[in-house]
Amino acid sequence: MCDHKKMVVLWIVTVGLLSVRVSGRGELYERIGYFWHITDIHYDGHFNSYQDVRKGCWRPSYDGSSNMRGQRGPLSQYGDYSCDSTWELIESAAKMMMTRQNENVEFVLWTGDALSHHASRHLKEDRQLEMIQNVTDLLRKTFSSQFVFPALGHDDPSARKQLGKMWSQWLPTDAMKFFEQGGYYYIERKTQKLQIVVLNTNLMKRQDEDDEEASNQWDWLEKVLEKFKRNNEVVYLVGHIPPGSDERHKGLTAPSHIMYKDYHNKRYIKLIRKYHAIIVGQFYGHLHSDTFRVLYSENNGRPISWAMLAPSVTPKRTHDGPNNPGLRIYKFDKYSGQVFDYTQYYLDLSTANSNGKADWVVEYNFSTYYGINDITPLNLHTLADKFTQETAADNGVFNKYYRANSVRIHTKATTNCDDTCAHTHYCAITRVDYDEHEQCLKIAVGALSSSSSLVFLGVKLKLTSVCFIGLVICKMFW
Ligand SMILES: *[C@@H]1O[C@H](CO)[C@@H](O)[C@H](O)[C@H]1NC(C)=O
Ligand SMILES: *[C@@H]1O[C@H](CO)[C@@H](O)[C@H](O)[C@H]1NC(C)=O
Repeated sequence: MCDHKKMVVLWIVTVGLLSVRVSGRGELYERIGYFWHITDIHYDGHFNSYQDVRKGCWRPSYDGSSNMRGQRGPLSQYGDYSCDSTWELIESAAKMMMTRQNENVEFVLWTGDALSHHASRHLKEDRQLEMIQNVTDLLRKTFSSQFVFPALGHDDPSARKQLGKMWSQWLPTDAMKFFEQGGYYYIERKTQKLQIVVLNTNLMKRQDEDDEEASNQWDWLEKVLEKFKRNNEVVYLVGHIPPGSDERHKGLTAPSHIMYKDYHNKRYIKLIRKYHAIIVGQFYGHLHSDTFRVLYSENNGRPISWAMLAPSVTPKRTHDGPNNPGLRIYKFDKYSGQVFDYTQYYLDLSTANSNGKADWVVEYNFSTYYGINDITPLNLHTLADKFTQETAADNGVFNKYYRANSVRIHTKATTNCDDTCAHTHYCAITRVDYDEHEQCLKIAVGALSSSSSLVFLGVKLKLTSVCFIGLVICKMFW
């Protein structure tokens, strides 16, 4: 009898535990959703394979022979590392997104620069709008039942009224009003806790602190964040140009590419610090590279927020070399906005061209690649910190990051990025403020030149010793 009772109790407990686990899991499954992030398509509508340098892609081929202006090898179906996207490339990307994962996709972030570098500078507005229309139509067909959140890039036309009209199926009346006025908006997701704010980062390039459009965006942003906070909602910030510096830009000279003016960069950081508790993700493009940023509390240096930068669809990059075309899908909690993971897809462009077939494949999954199960400020801070603890010769986590940074374009990842180069990445990732970034670069360069005997102990030690002599910037981290 006694044994029987025990068995029954055991049975109840076991079943009870099992059902708790199952229901817990079931609930989690229901909460999981996906969203695509597409950025920097840079459609070159004039791309042609007849070596007509007056049309579209006209830059010298990517082999360092910059004096051979206009002379190039034959262009291929899916494009060229020195050129913006062909239509075939963009179509192959859309087809992949449709067939790989169309289930459970909640929405799509499309963060700007739909036009080729050439088109945005040399073509008339009606031709530019035709290209954007074609890209828009393709995305509409690809995501017939999802919302696409478009953000303006600096290579998109400034005709906001026409763009608004083109995107009217995605922008409800309220959002449209703001979009037409300033190029920024959010779409009230009434039954959802997670809200998505799309910024017009072109306004962050404005020099004048009193620029009316830029000030309006700041005031508006602060107001909506305050509202979300009051309503216990959470938010993703989405835009084209990220805050901070280019991780691939070497040295202390001012970069030639487009970034936020210092005033706007500082203001952005300030706002993140104020509202970090409700900002559960920041998503940007623009740099054509796969990287991330970590933002810290001003008081105690605690990591409080992160931004993910996704690589471009176009293989072309005007600074520091090209990349393979990339597309990204995030896995997230639909209710809390918590981002768990992403899958980075890519197309090996030279293989695609030689096979005459675009086989987009998984490049990596964030969680398995880096061994991190949740994308949080602390986890990303810890990851970035590892970049400084190994020398370039180690076959470590930095090399993984570096390989992904240009979407596997590097064939010799281990020799391409030395300690100074690794530090440049580290500084850009962890110092979004320009002054702090500059300090970080100076320390790295100084430390490397003055303590070569300590190289075997890794960059971290070198930096630590520099910190001892009292540089304020280090206080936050060591
Ligand atoms: C846009 O699409 C239309 C219709 O398919 C086509 O005729 C036109 O050539 C396309 N234009 C560009 C620039 O892709
Ligand atoms: C990565 O994620 C994709 C999509 O969820 C999945 O199909 C694939 O099996 C995963 N790969 C690895 C190595 O985890």
